[in-house]
Amino acid sequence: MANVTVIGAQWGDEGKGKIVDWLASRADAVVRFQGGHNAGHTLVVGEQVYKLSLLPSGIVTGTLSIIGNGVVLDPWALKAEIEKLTAQGVAINADNFAIADNCPLILPLHRDLDGLRETAAGSGKIGTTGRGIGPAYEDKVGRRAIRVCDLAHLDALDSQLDRLCAHHDALRAGFGQPPVDRDALVAELRDIAPYVLQFAQPVWKRLNQVRKAGARILFEGAQGVLLDVDHGTYPFVTSSNTVSGTAASGSGLGPNATGFVLGIVKAYTTRVGSGPFPTELEDATGQRLGERGHEFGTVTGRKRRCGWFDAVLVRQSCAISGVTGIALTKVDVLDGMEKVKICTGYRLRGKVLDYFPSHAADQAEVEPIYEEMDGWAGTTAGARSWADLPAQAIKYIQRVQELIETPVALVSTSPEREDTILVRDPFVD
Ligand code: GDP
Ligand code: IMO
Ligand code: MG
Repeated sequence: MANVTVIGAQWGDEGKGKIVDWLASRADAVVRFQGGHNAGHTLVVGEQVYKLSLLPSGIVTGTLSIIGNGVVLDPWALKAEIEKLTAQGVAINADNFAIADNCPLILPLHRDLDGLRETAAGSGKIGTTGRGIGPAYEDKVGRRAIRVCDLAHLDALDSQLDRLCAHHDALRAGFGQPPVDRDALVAELRDIAPYVLQFAQPVWKRLNQVRKAGARILFEGAQGVLLDVDHGTYPFVTSSNTVSGTAASGSGLGPNATGFVLGIVKAYTTRVGSGPFPTELEDATGQRLGERGHEFGTVTGRKRRCGWFDAVLVRQSCAISGVTGIALTKVDVLDGMEKVKICTGYRLRGKVLDYFPSHAADQAEVEPIYEEMDGWAGTTAGARSWADLPAQAIKYIQRVQELIETPVALVSTSPEREDTILVRDPFVD
């Protein structure tokens, strides 16, 4: 029995939440392994719409859902999200939900710093989600973080707080801000601690038990490979590794546990925030993709930038992340287009490239080389079998898999859970 690791293969918002929810009913555990509440995953089940940021998407099907150590956890955002989901009828309790006790916390001071830096950067800003993700990861690797397990030892936190506040007070002074209100911070932590601690445990142990029992584990990535801090469009990236390899280190299982790597790929391209985007369309076609695809951020409500499918980028993401097969989503958004284009290479100062270069200036300057295909007259929306797809849509899907050198395992044709075509089952591969 294979485990499955789901990752985004573009700049996030590929439809990971929908696919994880669809697969979750056949998994025994779903684990988030990086990122935080910068993620926004929308699940549609009949009339109900669930918006998840921090909770693993498996929670909606009642599957054991775990937040791994690789995640940065805002305890107040967690509580608000659990309350929202509970009000929608989702059961969340210590039996079906666990948090790694070695998970670093996002504190109000991280959100402050994220905002101060973005404001100071003006037009050079990253366009972060403002959730404090970057500063929290900095404190983790800087060995200054307060972690979930520290919430059980708040009386012994003095020396850790000295180190954390010394660092942040210096940064805040540079922005003309007052020092951290340490007493208020401790009071807030004392207040939230019991809520978080009811779910805290060494999840590496639980996951290893689950694995030994032969159960299926679904690893749920957030963001996408092009936002990876090493492999993405640096510095316009998030602050974690979003590639499949992180599933192991971010959950406490070895790399041999991660199984089938399912890359989620949107049939066109979107991006939120600043940074290079070679196939971006700032014309009526881009507008149309945004409107038909409802391309507005789940977390910040920002309009997503839209463009043609970029096969160079996705081929690169699939190689870097060892993608076994892809789930191609939002094919229906292309329904009714007379022509569709796919980027098959770049031109950079007279040279043709078959990869995306690393330097920011080169990334900004590459010009896409397009291949044009006829669109399709019929509709793919709501299709649940390959036979329901118009012949020309099948041609598009086949061309995509050829160019990215990775087979299609699933096709998604609407936001609704069941509007999904299974081509090759990742769990039994
Ligand atoms: P994630 O961050 O990767 O989970 O993706 P988001 O949830 O942020 O964005 C994807 C959006 O597209 C959501 O609103 C989904 O409901 C929607 N969606 C997912 N798959 C499909 C699909 O195949 N067709 C259409 N039209 N919408 C989809
Ligand atoms: P999901 O999981 C799309 C982007 C932000 C910004 C950059 C850095 O829903 O696919 P951060 O707050 O992480 O420091 O912001 O990363 N970003 C996302 N874009 N989908 C996401 O998550 C994202 N999470 C972060 O817009 O450009
Ligand atoms: Mg999203």
